[in-house]
Amino acid sequence: MIERIDALRGEGEAAIAAAATTDALEQARIHYLGRRAELPNLLRGVAQLPPEQRGAVGKAANVARKALEQLIEARGAELAGAELERQLAEDRIDVTLPGAPLPPAGGLHLLNATRREIEDVFVGLGYTVAEGPEVERVYYNFDALNHDPAHPARLRTDTFYVADDVVLRTHTSPMQVRAMEQHPPPIFLIVPGRVYRRDSDATHTPQFHQIEGLAVDEDITLSDLKGTLLAFARAIFGDERQVRLRPHFFPFTEPSVEVDVSCFNCKDGLTREGARCPLCKGTGWIEILGAGMVDPNVFGYVREHGYDPERIQGFAFGMGVERIAFLKHGVSDLRLFYDNDLRFLEQF
Ligand code: PHE
Repeated sequence: MIERIDALRGEGEAAIAAAATTDALEQARIHYLGRRAELPNLLRGVAQLPPEQRGAVGKAANVARKALEQLIEARGAELAGAELERQLAEDRIDVTLPGAPLPPAGGLHLLNATRREIEDVFVGLGYTVAEGPEVERVYYNFDALNHDPAHPARLRTDTFYVADDVVLRTHTSPMQVRAMEQHPPPIFLIVPGRVYRRDSDATHTPQFHQIEGLAVDEDITLSDLKGTLLAFARAIFGDERQVRLRPHFFPFTEPSVEVDVSCFNCKDGLTREGARCPLCKGTGWIEILGAGMVDPNVFGYVREHGYDPERIQGFAFGMGVERIAFLKHGVSDLRLFYDNDLRFLEQF
């Protein structure tokens, strides 16, 4: 009997030591110490043994059981510790690895990039930026800008009417009057925004963008206009540029001018290969905008806001954003700006 107990103890010890997982250890426990296992059964049967054997067998079986119990507990703790270590090692995240690559960020549309570039030039010269309504009263779009009642731009064939006295603005110039109503002089302002005309071909889209400029103070001259536009032309088209003013007519400026920048694609109208430059058509000059000195009649509409035409002068200019982008980047068809074809947009 004692020998059997010793044998069971030896087997049990070996099985516990060999258990590689907590599951295997539990199997060993059931096998050697479970309710139907041999050793506990022996212990339960001790009472039926002859009295002279009971003491020794009972003691040996008890000692064996306690020994196995202790071993199971120790081995269990060992396995649980190892298990935890393994899980920690498996779950470790290397925070020093680079993250997933960022999705491409996209970019500004060429028209927005150009608008911002132009804004930056004027903000650098001390101008502020304001926007105005695209649905505009005829009063601001034409009347207060000194347009004759019979001016052709007022025709429904040229301009989108929303009501008899409301249009989609045909230029950003209405903001000249709105701005002067709101602020006494001096004013140094640019106004980017959408404008609308009933025109549609390779060089005209019914909706396009302008940037208006307005500078008003007590001693502003045409030379200030020319110097300002020279700084602008050099910032946008390169340091070598010159500008020239040609007489023109706008109802709301007097005198009025069209402004040309010296061609940045050729020298004196000839390309490096000696051909006639296609950009300036061989003239050496490219028209970039319209401008002039604010007509005293326009100040007459805002006289009570501090604009006495006897005391105040100013200049104004208006340029097309599409036109600047188109010249600078050699775009062949204005409609490409609105097609949203990535093959076109991604070139800039
Ligand atoms: N508003 C004019 C146009 O759209 C441009 C312009 C603005 C001319 C300001 C003179 C002064 O053609």
